[in-house]
Amino acid sequence: MKIVMVKKQLLCGEPCDKCAQAEKMLRERGVWERIDEVVWAIEGEPESAGMLLGAQYGVNLAPFFVVTQEDGTEKVYRSALRFFKESFSDVSTSQSKNKQNKPRSARLDRDLPALDEKYSTRHPQEIIEWGLKWFGADCAIAFSGAEDVILIDMAVNTGLSFSVFCLDTGRLHPETYQYLETVRKHYGIPIRLMSPKADDLEDLVREKGLYSFLEDGHKQCCGIRKIEPLRRALGDCRAWISGQRRDQSPATRSDLHVIHKDEAFKGVGEGDLVKLNPLTHWTSQQVWDYIRDHEVPYNPLHERGFRSIGCEPCTRATLPGEHERAGRWWWEESTKRECGLHTKG
Ligand code: ADX
Ligand code: SF4
Repeated sequence: MKIVMVKKQLLCGEPCDKCAQAEKMLRERGVWERIDEVVWAIEGEPESAGMLLGAQYGVNLAPFFVVTQEDGTEKVYRSALRFFKESFSDVSTSQSKNKQNKPRSARLDRDLPALDEKYSTRHPQEIIEWGLKWFGADCAIAFSGAEDVILIDMAVNTGLSFSVFCLDTGRLHPETYQYLETVRKHYGIPIRLMSPKADDLEDLVREKGLYSFLEDGHKQCCGIRKIEPLRRALGDCRAWISGQRRDQSPATRSDLHVIHKDEAFKGVGEGDLVKLNPLTHWTSQQVWDYIRDHEVPYNPLHERGFRSIGCEPCTRATLPGEHERAGRWWWEESTKRECGLHTKG
């Protein structure tokens, strides 16, 4: 169960009386910690997140509560008391709050295979919406500056909170850096750029130079420039969204799932992390149809024969008929052409 409470903020900056009373009641009854997200409906700001939720659910009073079950069903409560009674039937008013605070990730984890099955036939937009309703800004999109801008476009369409990060390896193409700016401005969203740890990078370059990956494989360089920054980014999340697709690599991505527990990385407080791959079943054709139909900005390198885009020295354009990942780490075996962002364990 995910609970969102919408509170109203008055022009003076204070919450409305009813919202303050509802919060007090929930605190006194020991369930305040079970509210997953508080969203503000700001008086006079129809674009504020709470106002948008109000419009979405047809509610024009505050507070109100949106309760989403694991199977995606939603219920909206306009009465705080009724919300309390129906949502916390396990809690008597005298119970101490510590007794009911089960970790959310543990409860969720049990149902992930069922959720995966349920959502595997759904449109990516619905999968993203499920993730954002459940995790909000604790759910981050891993944006590589290639065609997975679709994830951002769909997330923006939900009107829900989310975060975006990009692993800035320091070796991306100039076109990719410009494209990151294009996307940031186009959607008006912050993009968190994760840089490698300076000490580790300096040691590697001093010892082996700037192109060590051509001699002894990409694992070490990717480890420093991508994996360690990814681990740090995910340490602030409870879920993340990647743009992987099964058809990108028969050798390494054929058993990709739409929703699963990330066995390789940990989330907030070393807790479990959920991973969403909404484009799992999409083909390259569907990706490009979406980009065209929705006029989504794309990396200009795609117009020059680049299909799968990573770091500049490890990416090249592909010829017609070549597989889309043939231009990534082309000097290595196809089963090794993964940088470790998406390992399972
Ligand atoms: S990789 O493992 O070979 O580098 P690929 O380029 O196919 O991955 O991208 C798959 C997904 O990984 C992307 O859709 C994106 O979600 C994530 N990803 C890849 N590179 C980055 C990056 N530099 N920053 C953030 N996410 C990335
Ligand atoms: Fe280093 Fe190449 Fe990996 Fe980028 S893709 S981190 S340059 S090995």
